[in-house]
Amino acid sequence: MSHNGAGVSEVTVRVPMNIALVKYWGKRDEQLILPLNDSISLTVDKLTAETTVRMIQVVGENTVEINGRRVELSSNKRYQTVFDEALRLQRKRKEDLNKNENKCITHHFEVISKTNFPVAAGLASSAAGFAAIARAIQKILNLNDTQANRLARIGSGSACRSMFGGLVHWKKGEKEDGSDCVAVKTESENWPDLYCIILVFNDERKKVGSSEGMRRTRETSTLLKHRIEYVVPERIEQVKKAYESRNFQDLARVIMADSNQFHAVCLDSIPPIRYLNESSWRLIELVEKFNQQEVKAAYTFDAGPNACVIVQKYDVPAFIRTLLQDIIIPSEDLKSVEEELKVSFDCPSESNSPILCSKLIVSPMGGGPADS
Ligand code: DP6
Repeated sequence: MSHNGAGVSEVTVRVPMNIALVKYWGKRDEQLILPLNDSISLTVDKLTAETTVRMIQVVGENTVEINGRRVELSSNKRYQTVFDEALRLQRKRKEDLNKNENKCITHHFEVISKTNFPVAAGLASSAAGFAAIARAIQKILNLNDTQANRLARIGSGSACRSMFGGLVHWKKGEKEDGSDCVAVKTESENWPDLYCIILVFNDERKKVGSSEGMRRTRETSTLLKHRIEYVVPERIEQVKKAYESRNFQDLARVIMADSNQFHAVCLDSIPPIRYLNESSWRLIELVEKFNQQEVKAAYTFDAGPNACVIVQKYDVPAFIRTLLQDIIIPSEDLKSVEEELKVSFDCPSESNSPILCSKLIVSPMGGGPADS
């Protein structure tokens, strides 16, 4: 962290996005962003938000810039909520320490963030962005993990899961004030062989945003009630157990079942919400084909058509060869996978109706945030 004499503290961090293996969908409190169910996730090491936060000790206007574009804060209240909460925590700490000297000084924040993946394309980009802001503010204000977790969560629910590496469990908690709603790193050792292959089929903004979608599902879906009460608790345990015992097949089955159920509750909403498109379905069929003898890959989709396929490192080349039968992958992306994994892919035979993928990313999973 750097301080300068003029009361400016500055921290830069890099935080990965995360992908839920058991999904969060539905809020019990929209203001505090408290979820209706637990969720569990892994980070995607290569997809990160690199974020610099400056806290400036004078009254001024907060500013946020993402990928070179200024965010209109009046139409995106979540940033303001995070900044207000940060200042509240800072005031509280000063009161606890009986330091009253700075009581009348107000601060403002400047945030500059760069992501290396499409924003709002169903790739949970807001998770990495808000987690990075929360982590940088944690460093500046010396907050504890629970406080930082809350800060990330009130920016975007899934962001609190990007605050740690490894398998992360976001507990919904019971309390109205959200004090027991936290994401924690599970005790399992990291599983470094887990890789994910992300296929971007569409990098436009999603039609129904998560908040609106969750509200609609909570108000209208009967399947959601069943999911929350009977399905999710068991799946969280199954994921933990499979991860801990390195049982890929069990892990993969739960991941796919939960992605399917998440999209089923979306369809069960009125009006129904459809996030998957034709390309997503073709990808599901390819994974099924790949898994015919043995389950070696697991697909999962968030609130958009783009796919995340989880495989073990040594199955990455074979899975990409399967993809190439039906999917046109940008050659520069394929080349970088060849270089990284020291493999080579043959030119695919002509497919009757190939699917276009605009970006393919292969990444290890489970890494944590980094400070610079
Ligand atoms: C489908 O965290 O983006 O990706 O809390 O309203 O910001 P808000 O929603 P957000 O929702 C993510 C939903 C999901 C599933 C998941 O990541 O668990």
